[in-house]
Amino acid sequence: MSLKFKKAIIIGGSKGLGKAISTSLKEIKVKTIACSRKEIDTSNISSVIKFCKKYREIDILVLNTGGPPPLKFNEINIEDWRKYFNQLFLSFFILLKNIKIKKNGYIFYISSSIIKEPGDSLIISSSLRSAMSSLLKSYSLEKSSQGITAINIAPGPFKTNRVKQLVKNLRRYEKSLPTKKIGNPKEIGEFVRFIVQKQIKYISGSTVYFDGNLNKSYN
Ligand SMILES: NC(=O)c1ccc[n+]([C@@H]2O[C@H](COP(=O)([O-])OP(=O)(O)OC[C@H]3O[C@@H](n4cnc5c(N)ncnc54)[C@H](OP(=O)(O)O)[C@@H]3O)[C@@H](O)[C@H]2O)c1
Repeated sequence: MSLKFKKAIIIGGSKGLGKAISTSLKEIKVKTIACSRKEIDTSNISSVIKFCKKYREIDILVLNTGGPPPLKFNEINIEDWRKYFNQLFLSFFILLKNIKIKKNGYIFYISSSIIKEPGDSLIISSSLRSAMSSLLKSYSLEKSSQGITAINIAPGPFKTNRVKQLVKNLRRYEKSLPTKKIGNPKEIGEFVRFIVQKQIKYISGSTVYFDGNLNKSYN
């Protein structure tokens, strides 16, 4: 099938990294449904269930959403865990369970490079995204025989609203990075486009650290 008949759903596709993915896929004529919270709010399970009734199957699914606040261990309360468990984990499980990915389709999950190196802040993010990364791996093992390719994209700092909210002095922060640059969201968009356009399949089940060498580990 030609790419112009392929359809992609991008959760959290109205801004930042999700928008960059949507823009890149549109350039190769993939029909994209780029969602904001108005279409699906992943912190609200009824909104997710409603969304699944509307879209039963798709060629490409991008699992992305807003990030949680940077809270330290003692600042996190039970309600925070409940909200972000829904937002960052349970909703994605429901989407994967209810939206069929067509044969030879793709799933891209936007996690974070902190799944490799959790810190003393952003604990909700590193914990729940590690769990989701594990779930995606299990899902991809089951779906591999159908040619479904699942890739976990683990970004470091990229120039979006999210990073502007988290970092006070962007210029100083940029200078502290190994590449001296904050990532350009377009690169993640182009990476996804390349994988889809070239029908790269054997990368399935991998985590791609897109972090400009921020993590010091080689694996
Ligand atoms: N940028 C980075 O440096 C970076 C690094 C590592 C990880 N990440 C993670 O990657 C994801 C995307 O980041 P970004 O920088 O692109 O963020 P962003 O620019 O703030 O965009 C967030 C996107 O997610 C949507 N969204 C927010 N809350 C949502 C919810 N409850 N349900 C569904 N959609 C929701 C937003 O839609 P609306 O239009 O409705 O606001 C928007 O489309 C985040 O989870 C972030 O934590 C980002």
